[in-house]
Amino acid sequence: MKALAPLLAPIWFAQLFTGAKSFLDNPLIGSTRLNAMGLHVARLRLAHGMTAWRRAKLTAAVRPDDRAMFDRDGVVEIRNFLPADTFAALRQQILAHRGPARETVQGDTITRRLAIDPTARLAIPAFKQFQKDRRWRALARYVAGFDIEPLLYIQSILPLRHAAAPDPQTRLHADTFHPAMKAWLFLEDVPLESGPFAYVRGSHRLTPERIAWERERSLHVRDGDCRLSARGSFRIEPGELAGLGLPQPTRFAVPANTLIVADTFGFHARTMASLPATRIELWAYGRRNPYRPLTGWDIWSLPGIAERRVALRWWLGDRMAGIMPQSWRPVGRKGPADD
Ligand SMILES: [Fe+2]
Repeated sequence: MKALAPLLAPIWFAQLFTGAKSFLDNPLIGSTRLNAMGLHVARLRLAHGMTAWRRAKLTAAVRPDDRAMFDRDGVVEIRNFLPADTFAALRQQILAHRGPARETVQGDTITRRLAIDPTARLAIPAFKQFQKDRRWRALARYVAGFDIEPLLYIQSILPLRHAAAPDPQTRLHADTFHPAMKAWLFLEDVPLESGPFAYVRGSHRLTPERIAWERERSLHVRDGDCRLSARGSFRIEPGELAGLGLPQPTRFAVPANTLIVADTFGFHARTMASLPATRIELWAYGRRNPYRPLTGWDIWSLPGIAERRVALRWWLGDRMAGIMPQSWRPVGRKGPADD
């Protein structure tokens, strides 16, 4: 990489103004010297400031109780989210659907995703009821801090399927240095045994304690032994939480038809499953360059384009396979409940 440094330096510099987060892949982001001078903390502060600015413009459509819960905890749990008949239809249509699936293996766990592309939308007409739900639309946008259409997948988590180390997603972590939205609508009950989502309430806030912790991590993370932390998703031990004024994580063992929307700058994890039960969910993701001042103007949110984004991302990923490692491999046509 050293020989190419003069060519790559402008790209590395430009990446400072994006959501780029890897301390390994960008020597400026990973620089101990620059981070000692405050680079990582400056990126954090600016990204969080811009998100607060954009969120302020997206408050009007959000229910006050949802907003209060989110602002306090960084995560919103809504039980019985869809009307019972709509949920029953959605669940039945999703479970009956088969389509081109992708899988990745992390530790002992398989994650499978199916795109909700135009074909899937025809097979799952009830999906439209969820997508156009006003409470969902407003909350997803507020948490993302952008007026964008989230990426949506049918996701299955299949824990304990490989004789391997535990799933690395079971360690508490922040996805990245800036606010970002993820959401789950669970299609089945999620008992404690199946490894539910866990979240440290209040950990979405950029407090002085968190800033100090981030600064310290930014000085050493590149050379540490945790690759995922070095790539910008900082892991944290439960024993460190009290020092940041944070509680222990809440485990969301919830019934089917519960919606959870979270800011994944907050510390979260999958908890360790004790049973190899498959968890099936609608999964959403909303993230853009955190420094953008505008909430909207997203070409990818336009009808006709939005529902084809996942297929396009996969296609592009396949083309780039020789240059960048691709973790989502095609596994043929599958249903979300297949083993
Ligand atoms: Fe995560």
